[in-house]
Amino acid sequence: MVKPHHIDILFTEEQIQEKIAELAAVVARDYLDKELVLIGILHGGAALLTDFSRALWKAGLTTSVHKDYIGISSYESGVDSTGRVVFTKELKNSIKGRHVLIVEDIVDTGRSLASAIEILKAKEPKSLETLTLLSKPSRREVEVPVKYIGWEIPNTFVAGYDLDYDEMYRTMPYIGSVVFD
Ligand code: IMP
Ligand code: MG
Repeated sequence: MVKPHHIDILFTEEQIQEKIAELAAVVARDYLDKELVLIGILHGGAALLTDFSRALWKAGLTTSVHKDYIGISSYESGVDSTGRVVFTKELKNSIKGRHVLIVEDIVDTGRSLASAIEILKAKEPKSLETLTLLSKPSRREVEVPVKYIGWEIPNTFVAGYDLDYDEMYRTMPYIGSVVFD
């Protein structure tokens, strides 16, 4: 159920793109001579994976980078986690023996990422690392390794840039806090 609220801007389009470019520069160095499969977690991570993969290209990682998606749904609607993780889409290509980087929009309790790691590990990648644009460390319920982090944010619900509040705000180009009135 959608409650009365407004949005306070946290990160502008420019800030988001700058941060993505920073992350891409580091990742490009780390995977300089390697083939890399980026895996986005739908739906929240779609905008990030698109922008991040283009930033990698600009940072020098071009045809060695591939991308794929898995679908995970941990929130039925609204802001409360049901604690359940539902898989909604399988990978298109095999990752066996390949270097994999999971690209997540936000790590909250850590449950989605932990499930994704477990599922992908079973597919025997050569290496498996994780990147997230946003992290809420104070909300963590599961220990989960995140190698590359854009911003750590306090315990606030955020929306925009493909992150939704009850399926709203995915198309908003910037990221804001959902503030309940
Ligand atoms: P976790 O499994 O609790 O870490 O949550 C991960 C997923 O929940 C994210 O990939 C998002 O799709 C969603 N999520 C967590 N926090 C937020 C938020 O503040 N805004 C929008 N979606 C969120
Ligand atoms: Mg997500």
